[in-house]
Amino acid sequence: MTSFIHIPILAEEITELLVRDANGVYLDGTLGLGGHSGHIIKRLAAGGKVIGLDKDAEAIKMARENVNDERLKTFNLSYTEAAEALALAGESGVDGALFDLGLSSYQLDDAQRGFSFLRQGPLDMRFDGRGELRAYDIVNKYSADKLTDIFENYGEERQASKIALAICMARRESPIETTTALAALIEKTVGRGGKIHPATRVFQALRIAVNDELACVKAAPYVAKDILKVGGRAAFLTFHSTEDRIIKQAFKEIVSSGDYKLVNKKVIEPSWEEIKKNPRARSAKLRVMERVK
Ligand SMILES: C[S@@+](CC[C@H](N)C(=O)[O-])C[C@H]1O[C@@H](n2cnc3c(N)ncnc32)[C@H](O)[C@@H]1O
Repeated sequence: MTSFIHIPILAEEITELLVRDANGVYLDGTLGLGGHSGHIIKRLAAGGKVIGLDKDAEAIKMARENVNDERLKTFNLSYTEAAEALALAGESGVDGALFDLGLSSYQLDDAQRGFSFLRQGPLDMRFDGRGELRAYDIVNKYSADKLTDIFENYGEERQASKIALAICMARRESPIETTTALAALIEKTVGRGGKIHPATRVFQALRIAVNDELACVKAAPYVAKDILKVGGRAAFLTFHSTEDRIIKQAFKEIVSSGDYKLVNKKVIEPSWEEIKKNPRARSAKLRVMERVK
C-alpha cells in the first residue's frame, strides 16, 4: 500500500489544552491518520482511552497502524454519531473532544479519491465510500442554478454562475469524468490570475456538498457539548471562514447558557514556524470550550 502522511496541526497546543486527566476518556471525532490521537495517547496513563471516529474506513486502518496502541478504540462513524460511539465503547462522557475539520492531506494526495485538481482521478470526493452521491453526479446532473448556489455558498466563488454555465455547456457534448478535465474547463472559463488555482474554490464547494459537511459542522458543537463531562473541553480546528463562523456562533449560543465557557477568547493560530514546515496549517483556527457545570 502507498504510504501517506498527514502532519497534525497545533498538536502540542491541542494536547496541552485537552488532556488534563491522564486516565480520562478522549474523543477524536476526525481520526484521519491518527496524528492528533497519537499525541494525545502519549500523554495518557494506562487507564486513559481515545475513541477515534472517521467516515473514511481506509483512514481508520492507517490510523490504527500508525498509533498501534490498544488504548485507541475506533469506529467507522460520523462524529455526529459520537454519542452512539461512546455507548458502543461503554462510556457515558468524555474529558476532551477534538474536531479537526475538513479533509486530510492523505485524501488530497490519493488521486483515486478525486479531491485534487492537480491529480487526474475520478470525480468522487466521498469521505465515506458507502455514500451514494459523488462529485460526478453533482457536476453532470445538477442544474446550472443549483451548481451556482453550491459554488457560491460553499466555495465563496465569485464567478460561480459563469463556471456553472460552462459546465452545463461542456457536458452536453460528453460527461465530465475526471478532476483534471473539470479543472481545465474552469481554467479555460475564468483564466488564471489570482494567487490560488482557479479551480480551488469549486473543488472545495463540491467536497462540502458531496459530504454534506456544513450540516455536520453545524451539529458538531452541540454533539460535543452533550458528551462533555463537567471540566471537559472540546476543541475545533477549522480551515475556512464559513466553518469558523459556524463554530464561533455555536460557541456563543452554548456559552450563553452559563454551563460552558470559552477557554480562549481569541482564536489560536499556528506559528510562522509551523506554517513554514506545514503550509496546510496556514488557514487553521482553533477554538476551545469547556463545560463548567
Ligand atoms: C483534517 S483530517 C484529520 C486529521 C487527523 N487529525 C490527523 O492528525 O491525522 C479530517 C478527517 O475527518 C474525516 N471526516 C470528515 N467529516 C467527518 C465526519 N462527519 N465524521 C467523521 N469523520 C469525518 C475525514 O475523513 C478526514 O479523515
